[in-house]
Amino acid sequence: MGIYLDNAATTPVFEEIIKELPDWTKNLYANPNSVHKFGQKVRNEIEKVRQDIANIINEPYENIIFTSGATESNNAILKGYLETTDKDEILVSPIEHKSVLNVAKYLAKKGKKVKFLKVDENGNIDLDYLKKSISKNTALVCIMHVNNETGVKQNLKEISKILKNYEIPLFSDTVQSFIKEETNFEDVDFYSVSGHKINSIKGIGLLIKKKEISPLIHGGGQEDGYRSGTQNTLGILALGKAVEIWNKNKDEYRKKLKQLKNTFENKIKEEIPDVKIVSENTERCSNISCVIFPKVDAQSLVIALGRQEVYVSSGSACSSGTPTPSHVLLSYGYSEEEALRAIRVSFGIFNCLEEVDEAVLRIKSVFEKLYKFSF
Ligand SMILES: Cc1ncc(COP(=O)(O)O)c(C=O)c1O
Repeated sequence: MGIYLDNAATTPVFEEIIKELPDWTKNLYANPNSVHKFGQKVRNEIEKVRQDIANIINEPYENIIFTSGATESNNAILKGYLETTDKDEILVSPIEHKSVLNVAKYLAKKGKKVKFLKVDENGNIDLDYLKKSISKNTALVCIMHVNNETGVKQNLKEISKILKNYEIPLFSDTVQSFIKEETNFEDVDFYSVSGHKINSIKGIGLLIKKKEISPLIHGGGQEDGYRSGTQNTLGILALGKAVEIWNKNKDEYRKKLKQLKNTFENKIKEEIPDVKIVSENTERCSNISCVIFPKVDAQSLVIALGRQEVYVSSGSACSSGTPTPSHVLLSYGYSEEEALRAIRVSFGIFNCLEEVDEAVLRIKSVFEKLYKFSF
């Protein structure tokens, strides 16, 4: 039995969506921008999804833009907002996803001033350092909500309170928390969402904007001019369905995720007492657990676990055959060596407690074999 515990990377698609896809493909193929009845029928479906999402997340309808995913949303927000202001400095947390960090690096190359913030050893943004970093030239502050490697959750309310004093907008990548966590993004000016993290299909996301941005993609003027290109009808309908299902069942889903994660963490500590759960006693999301194992490197563990059909991730990136330690764990103050021993286990609503029990047994057995041969 394969056990998929990599839900922070992507999630299985809801059965309800899979069932609808052939019908949507067959009957809603017209271009939503065509003026004829057939096109307008598709357009109405798309606008209905926008309105439904707007109602659920309590945002004005016109603030919601459909994109191809959070990578695009993050690019569009960072590049697009800077084009609307004379200020040219951004403050970016060091633990962002690459789809933010690499945009910031690109902007720095283009002459923008990029200052990186600091986090403490638990992964929380250093608020004093944030205050000290603000200048008259600060255009935007960029701090993700839930970290995708460790699950640590930032206090966006407190952060936005600080920024309001300086009238600086806050952008937050909310990919790992959107609808999955009890959230309130009332005080966030821009945020990004990815469909495939909430059991929709891939290639669809949201950009939510409460302030003006310049478009990233120019063309036919779709999405009110903010994102040209014929809309991804199937993606939008799938995302709409996923948000609807999540919203209907959110209490049950959140409770279940928390139970899966807590059970896993208790059992893994029982079976392998020397493991360390990253930021164990810090505010974290319901479904991500980052575990550092003694001696054994994460890359070997993930590969060996894959052979036992337990699917998890390591935080390290692997380019040209050599794993590089996670920038997130390094920012928390972990050594390179420790960071290379961290794996991420992330739960989804289709996992069950039996899978958690079985996964812990397989992890223990694989770990013990590798441990024996480690120096
Ligand atoms: C925190 C975070 N931001 C952005 C992304 C990118 O999302 P997408 O795959 O929709 O481009 C991911 C995906 O892993 C993520 O975890």
